[in-house]
Amino acid sequence: MQLRIIVCYLLLIYLEASICLQIVGVSIPNLKQRGESVTMTCDYDLEGGKLYSVKWYKDNEEFYRYMPRLKPPQHSHRVEGVKVDMERSSARRVHLRDLTLKSRGLYRCEVSEEAPSFHSAQSEAFMEVYYISRENPRIVGYERLYQIHEPLDVNCSSAKAFPPPLLEWHVDGQLVTEPSWLIEYEPAATSQGFFISTLGLRAPAKPHLRLKCVAILANHKRERTIFIQTNSSPGQLEASLDLIIIFIVSNIIYQKIS
Ligand SMILES: *[C@@H]1O[C@H](CO)[C@@H](O)[C@H](O)[C@H]1NC(C)=O
Repeated sequence: MQLRIIVCYLLLIYLEASICLQIVGVSIPNLKQRGESVTMTCDYDLEGGKLYSVKWYKDNEEFYRYMPRLKPPQHSHRVEGVKVDMERSSARRVHLRDLTLKSRGLYRCEVSEEAPSFHSAQSEAFMEVYYISRENPRIVGYERLYQIHEPLDVNCSSAKAFPPPLLEWHVDGQLVTEPSWLIEYEPAATSQGFFISTLGLRAPAKPHLRLKCVAILANHKRERTIFIQTNSSPGQLEASLDLIIIFIVSNIIYQKIS
């Protein structure tokens, strides 16, 4: 052991490389929901050295430090979007409560050894924070008359969310993948920093159709289904489709995508 430490210091002096102290693993989740809490861990191996400090940063701003020499050893600094639960934080972890969209960012753990080496090691990862409203997407544009085989001109818009949710169209149970049927629009930003995604559908009109739009974000899905059918008088059958909405089904599904 003694020899190993000596070798370690010698290497440090000559190489200034991170051989002695090393971070053996940080765990920073890459995706959390607004309102949740999170525990981030930072595991390090001092290789015989003494711990001087562990510091945590969000986007280069320090929000937590642990220094065993101080009484108490823990200190937190005010950083927007970061609420440290001191009781659940320690020399190897920080616990953050009530995540907001401001909590998204690059988190870094930095570990330093005491003199004489003052050697340090760090590791970082980005955490995204998402939000999705409980509301289902809206479908608009099916109210007017369509000629048979004329393409539909309908839009599906998600409720507000961050980041913009992915949208899917399903026609009669089939996921639409035909690019010429789909019209992509830029997500619209709302004043509170959320987004509304919109996807247009230009599928050919048919006498009976079941249209479903699904908004997907993280492991959440919101969907709306509409059933439409013709109300044509004889002789006019091929002329126009008077699309009548029978009923609208909407539901909220919380489910794993995979
Ligand atoms: C669909 O949304 C786009 C973008 O917001 C808009 O320009 C277009 O008029 C909408 N179409 C219908 C049928 O609502």
